[in-house]
Amino acid sequence: MLVSAAEMVKKANEGHYGIPAFNTNNLEWTKSILSACEEAKSPVIIQTSEGAAKYMGGYKAVVDMVNDLYDSMGITVPVALHLDHGTFEGAKKCIELGYTSVMFDGSHYDIDENIAKSKEIIELAHSKGVSVECEVGGIGGTEDGVTSSGELADPAECKSISDLGVDFLAAGIGNIHGVYPADWAGLNFERLDEISKAIGGKPMVLHGGSGIPFEQVHKAITLGVTKVNINTELQIVFAKATREYILAGKDEQGKGYDPRKLLAPGAEAIKKTAIELINAFGSNGKA
Ligand code: 13P
Repeated sequence: MLVSAAEMVKKANEGHYGIPAFNTNNLEWTKSILSACEEAKSPVIIQTSEGAAKYMGGYKAVVDMVNDLYDSMGITVPVALHLDHGTFEGAKKCIELGYTSVMFDGSHYDIDENIAKSKEIIELAHSKGVSVECEVGGIGGTEDGVTSSGELADPAECKSISDLGVDFLAAGIGNIHGVYPADWAGLNFERLDEISKAIGGKPMVLHGGSGIPFEQVHKAITLGVTKVNINTELQIVFAKATREYILAGKDEQGKGYDPRKLLAPGAEAIKKTAIELINAFGSNGKA
């Protein structure tokens, strides 16, 4: 059975390791992530943006797919299904339809509206045993068609949102969705430390986890980061493995055009990369 992410994140925060939160896009992606986590004995958060859920047929289709794969693959590690960057309406819908965790991203509202809306989602989610992530400040870059220039979160605002009872808090600390530019300044550890102290050491979320040097991720974990979001990196390794298969002409050899063969190298690349990231975040063996 899928679980809320609250318990796994709380344990990771106490044990100073990171829980991987992998975005999924389809059946192959989900199978590869589940299989990597089972092999590495890691708890995991599988997350979808609203756009990815729509692409897969809707929230209910995602809930059914992840639940069914969890059972039919005989998964034993804790798995939470989380909505990434949810709108107010999207978060409510996912709570109703069986997501076990939701993010309400009210970072683009003014702080009073963000607080009011976050409070409502937290109350609703917690009444159903669903964990909640909220956001303050902005994560730079583009995700799901929404672009933000990135904005360091204000520690006092973080405290107001955290005090509502959030299970894990996303805050802008210089992180960016997508590929990091060559002149990226790196994570702002000073701000991360100030926020972590302001919210009493509660678990924090590192968005834009793809491509951040592991030393920076490790330092962020020691300062309170507990959930590490990865989307772009799995997309890149999937695309690269698929391109290599096609450029080598393998789709034209025998029945190499069979989708099960065509998508296999990409699926294997996702699994391999997911295991490397799990080991880097230290969640291996923690299930
Ligand atoms: P990346 O795509 O940069 O890994 O970011 C993922 C993320 O933060 C999802 O919200």
